Amino acid sequence: MADALRELPQAVHPSLLIGYNQADDAGVYRINENTALVQTVDFFPPIVDDPFYFGQIAAANALSDIYAMGGTPLTALNILCFPKGKMDAGVLTDVLRGAAEKLEEAGVVVVGGHSVKDNEIKYGVAATGIIDPNKIISNAGARPGDKIFLTKPLGTGLITTGIKNQKVSDTLELIVTRQMAELNRVASEMMIKYEAHAATDITGYGLLGHSYEMAAASGVTIRIFSEKVPLLDQALELAEANMIPGGALDNREFLNGRLKFENKIEENLEKVLFDPQTSGGLLIAIDPSRADAFLAEAKSLDQDCWLVGEVVARAECEILVR
Ligand code: CO
Ligand code: CO
Repeated sequence: MADALRELPQAVHPSLLIGYNQADDAGVYRINENTALVQTVDFFPPIVDDPFYFGQIAAANALSDIYAMGGTPLTALNILCFPKGKMDAGVLTDVLRGAAEKLEEAGVVVVGGHSVKDNEIKYGVAATGIIDPNKIISNAGARPGDKIFLTKPLGTGLITTGIKNQKVSDTLELIVTRQMAELNRVASEMMIKYEAHAATDITGYGLLGHSYEMAAASGVTIRIFSEKVPLLDQALELAEANMIPGGALDNREFLNGRLKFENKIEENLEKVLFDPQTSGGLLIAIDPSRADAFLAEAKSLDQDCWLVGEVVARAECEILVR
């Protein structure tokens, strides 16, 4: 969509605080001095076979863009494409039930939706939240010295591809499914409390692609410590077995010339760093003086959180990996 939008005049409005031209997670529109709307939409075909979990994942994934801005999601609209007559309507009920439970967990009210007939089922959510316009955590505020944290391990693209090819145990399938269905709410509340300088969520562009977006928007370079990046079980194994989802190659190509490996990284680990994620964790830039307390807080809340990198002054390219 970004390519198509480039042809259009950029949206300019005094109340539009964050628009689509900024490649941020969600749009932000000021209502008054203290309140702005945060809006986002995402929908896709099933990422897992279980319709209930598919609904949960799609809902968690859509809300993630609001959490990534530091917003509070309030309402949701269901978006559904459904092969009427070709699929048991019970499947549809399960998708919507999974989503409804996840949205309720987030304190979000479903206010409506729309469905169209299509060959393949697709589901997602258009979500609206609120935020204090003075406390927006965009992806453009990272400063040299900041520590970079990640709140979910990587490898969902490789593992869901592995599931489709019967290479993954039921146990791991359940672990990755639950991880994708997990809200980024606690991570978001933490980053608000610790006044994160910048944040985004890790989705289709992978860890390196989303790190690039943050670095580019902030005018800095981000260095990723590859050996500190958390990985799901079997992620390296599935990389070795070439269970590579389509988007990974696009991610690698996009970063050509924008990324430098400072030393030789193990090939399979490299593949995981480019792996597109579904409903991935938050990538958060925290002031170095608060980094230890931030990690301790995560631990006390039982929130996964790993130090995976640092921000430095803009170097020869936006992303360095060591
Ligand atoms: Co996002
Ligand atoms: Co999105």
